[in-house]
Amino acid sequence: MTIHQARIISLPHQQDSRGALSFAEGGQHIPFTIARVYYLYHLTFGENRGGHAHKALQQLIIAVSGSFTVQLDDGRQKVAFTLNHPAQGLYVPAGLWRDLKDFSQGAACLVLASLPYSEDDYYRDYQEYLQATQGSE
Ligand code: TYD
Repeated sequence: MTIHQARIISLPHQQDSRGALSFAEGGQHIPFTIARVYYLYHLTFGENRGGHAHKALQQLIIAVSGSFTVQLDDGRQKVAFTLNHPAQGLYVPAGLWRDLKDFSQGAACLVLASLPYSEDDYYRDYQEYLQATQGSE
């Protein structure tokens, strides 16, 4: 796992006089099947989210409203992505630490996830994350 596997994926985008529509099919537009959807909204201005890594979970993170920054970290390198368009998603492979920050007013974050929720899949302690990932290389 390295941070270079993370990337922005452009989703299909249908625009007409009524507005816009985007969609994603697991295995077709994104590189995993979708087992779960969750979303962050009514976010408190100035607060951050994330602050963890996943052992096996893959995700696509979409700013369906507003904008925010996702900072990814593989223990060696940090890369920040600004998400600000509903037709773009950030693919986050397993094993990367992530911090979500700089949410605009009214921002909403949709996450497509490859697995059901499991607390066992989280690293919530950064030192533990570093030890586990360095130990596997
Ligand atoms: P967490 O993943 O830590 O959210 P964030 O990274 O945005 O801070 O989850 C916050 C809480 O919600 C935590 O107690 C676990 C719970 N939760 C679920 O029960 N199911 C889910 O699918 C998710 C994403 C979280």
